[in-house]
Amino acid sequence: MSDDQRDRLLPFRLEGKFLGFITDGYGIPKYLQLEIETGNLSIKLAKQLRFKLGLSLQPNDWLEVVGEKKLKSKTGELRWKADRVNHLTASESNSVENKIKIVACYQSGCLKKGASRLLSNLERTLHEWGLSDRVVIQATGCLKRCSQAPNLLLKPGNVRVNGMTPEVIVVTLLDTMRTTAVLNQASSIE
Ligand code: FES
Repeated sequence: MSDDQRDRLLPFRLEGKFLGFITDGYGIPKYLQLEIETGNLSIKLAKQLRFKLGLSLQPNDWLEVVGEKKLKSKTGELRWKADRVNHLTASESNSVENKIKIVACYQSGCLKKGASRLLSNLERTLHEWGLSDRVVIQATGCLKRCSQAPNLLLKPGNVRVNGMTPEVIVVTLLDTMRTTAVLNQASSIE
């Protein structure tokens, strides 16, 4: 099997702030730069998006970006490619801020220990449990627990997660959501 055949393709959906484009030799946008909570990403644009987005996006626009990420089996490098880019309204972006987040380490230590497979199973479980629209998965750097990889962080609460099945992670997530709701309720009464 060739390296290309071993590379793994996974769907992604990100929300973040548009920073700008990286253009090709003709000045046409080729990559968009997106700021997410854990850093900046360069995401390659599908050819049919390039010209249209070059005319319509402004820095600081809040975007939903959907596509596929490719995990290079040989290097552990992750490449992002967008097939769909949508503007989010102010109210939608506020709701993004309020969502529960699963922050996942995407460094080589966690990728080698199965982070990508765990996250795609987790995405499927969130979908099956009807939680996809309430939870966002975001990439981050090393969480400094490489020996226990793959590592995740649930926010709010900064609950560290490792060694759990997707189902147990979702149950932990539901606990976090309930605790957050109770705390929010208490602070609104004060
Ligand atoms: S590489 Fe993932 S915690 Fe260090």
